[in-house]
Amino acid sequence: MDEQDLHNIANAIVAEGKGILAADESSPTIKKRFTSIDVESTEENRRTYRQLLFTTPGINEFISGVILFDETLRQKADDGTTFVELLQKQNIIPGIKVDKGAKDLAGATGEKVTEGLDGLRERLNEYYDLGARFTKWRAVITIGEDIPSQYCIDANAHALARYAALSQEAGLVPIVEPEVLMDGEHTIEQCYHVTEATLNCVFQALYDQNVMLEGILLKPNMVLSGKDCSQQAGAEEVAELTVDCFNNTVPAAVPGIVFLSGGQSNEIATANLNAMNAMDVNHPWQLSFSYGRALQEPPLKAWRGEAANIEKAQQAFRHRAKCNGAARHGKYTAAMEQEPIEAGAQK
Ligand code: 13P
Repeated sequence: MDEQDLHNIANAIVAEGKGILAADESSPTIKKRFTSIDVESTEENRRTYRQLLFTTPGINEFISGVILFDETLRQKADDGTTFVELLQKQNIIPGIKVDKGAKDLAGATGEKVTEGLDGLRERLNEYYDLGARFTKWRAVITIGEDIPSQYCIDANAHALARYAALSQEAGLVPIVEPEVLMDGEHTIEQCYHVTEATLNCVFQALYDQNVMLEGILLKPNMVLSGKDCSQQAGAEEVAELTVDCFNNTVPAAVPGIVFLSGGQSNEIATANLNAMNAMDVNHPWQLSFSYGRALQEPPLKAWRGEAANIEKAQQAFRHRAKCNGAARHGKYTAAMEQEPIEAGAQK
């Protein structure tokens, strides 16, 4: 492991005005997304769809890194270029999801623990050789009656730290993703407390396991009202509580926080990120995005599996990426949503 390399990669991923496209949907998840647009989830359809995203003209103005799934890391574009090369040529850093999914946690009804540590060292070495330079591991914490338990938080924090240490050993920047789900009726204050407890535990585990904080990125949830809570906090409150929570838990050595969208609508995910970057304070870390659904929903809907729709889908993707790029500077406005979508690349 070269510590400076890890630090440089992490910093490049959170370069100004840019963020991450999370395109690492596992096979069951991409099947669900394709079913919503009546497209069959075949390997060729998945390749075509991801190619559409990665060849969007000018997308590297707003996207610094892409998280891939194992299958995608090995696929090629129509012209025979590997997806990894296609991204590298645009100065976009390829990353890879390495966890094996959240499974039921034994002895803890309703809670999950993420698996994938067995054989991880060997897989990481292969991913490095294939061109990946960062990794992702997602842990899931659910808020409900009497949960999360400390046991669940501890088990997930320990696994996240083991994964992060192994990634750094292989020369890959770990994106540490403890996601407190927004599902439920809980208030924003409850989300704050659970997120705070989770992050405290995660950073203790990272410290205990000798993870170099300058060479990681944190991918957390924002502090939000539960999806079914009758009182929904607006962007200002979300921004204030989220940043306050991180000030209390995330060391300044961490180069960046790259939020997941987690089921927020596209525009709300952008507005909340924007509100944080528009705050009149200097944060020690970059506040960026690593969105899956909130970047991909418009292109997916525009595409619908038809070759004739590819350009329209790319325009929709570019528009969302541009709005989130503006939110990195606190310069996003609702009016941007009304702007005509540009036809192509801007060099
Ligand atoms: P969403 O932005 O759709 O939550 O996905 C991000 C991600 O990578 C989840 O692991």
